[in-house]
Amino acid sequence: MPLITTPLTVRDRTIKNRITQLPMVPFPFIEDGKDYYNTQHLHHYARAAENGAGLIIVQSTRVEGVTREQGMWTPGSRSILERIAENARLSGATIMIQLSIEPEQGKDINQWSTEAVLEKQNELKEAALKARELGFHGVEYHFAHGFTLCQFMDAGANRRTDQFGGSLENRCRIVTDILPEVRAGAGDDFIISARMGEFTPTSEEGIATARHLEQCGMDMLSVSFGMTVPEGPVPEGFEFSPVTHSAHVIKQAVSVPVIGAFGIRTPEQAKGLVEKEYADLAGLGRAMLADPRFAANLLHGTPYHPCISCKNCSWFTNTLRCPARKLPETA
Ligand SMILES: Cc1cc2nc3c(=O)[nH]c(=O)nc-3n(C[C@H](O)[C@H](O)[C@H](O)COP(=O)(O)O)c2cc1C
Repeated sequence: MPLITTPLTVRDRTIKNRITQLPMVPFPFIEDGKDYYNTQHLHHYARAAENGAGLIIVQSTRVEGVTREQGMWTPGSRSILERIAENARLSGATIMIQLSIEPEQGKDINQWSTEAVLEKQNELKEAALKARELGFHGVEYHFAHGFTLCQFMDAGANRRTDQFGGSLENRCRIVTDILPEVRAGAGDDFIISARMGEFTPTSEEGIATARHLEQCGMDMLSVSFGMTVPEGPVPEGFEFSPVTHSAHVIKQAVSVPVIGAFGIRTPEQAKGLVEKEYADLAGLGRAMLADPRFAANLLHGTPYHPCISCKNCSWFTNTLRCPARKLPETA
């Protein structure tokens, strides 16, 4: 039986335990013209690494501008990312970064020209290679939460008639086409993964997509729908949310490791998820914001600050203001 402390090898890389900090945007956006990544991010991710998380996935990072040193890839931002990766490596954590593409104001993906998609595709590849250069162990392509890559994958949203629409293969092509080049450039031990939902748009499609992504060379999958979870029934006795159940469904369909997430608030839940083999890695989001020492407290059995589910933490709110951090710890 795997334990939360059991190492997991993905390609040639061993993740030291199953505790995963999910990608989360922890601070508000800064003014235009400034570097996106700053010392707040440096401290935020260093804390997660020092406190024992086995895998840390840095927040959604838009690939636009990567080849021109613009957007989230200015020299200042890149130097912070490089230090984030270095800190994690020094603490023995595996560090990845989530890559996404920016929605185009007023246009859905069906209105993008083929040339525009090819340009995004190139940036998705270049960003992965840049991540490798900056010292990251891998990337996670953000195919979830209805965002742009999710719309490509989703047969319900993608009505394109070029090579990026139609069949499942075509709908995933924006990323799957570049995987051989990313692999060749980033090396054998670089982890390439995808975050995806089960119901995009149906469970059958989600399962088929997961299998296809695995066949195309994805090393790991993270299963998530977003922050609002449909009230769905889960089988009797399944003690986690429908999102976590989806991870279990996907895990049964593929042989690569799967990250399960949503509403994992206590050390017992994180351990149970792994021990019952519902998922290979326990993905923690708000639990880690409420207590940046959550991983250490879990590993040592020490009291922690539990997330109080206040629902005030959404994207771009300042994590340092999380009210749970001020409340007494729970044994
Ligand atoms: C403040 C905040 C920022 C988030 N940013 C991202 C993100 O950048 N990329 C992503 O895939 N999910 C993002 N999420 C979703 C989380 O990764 C996670 O799936 C979600 O919070 C559910 O897990 P939890 O119940 O453990 O918090 C964010 C969530 C929060 C609370």
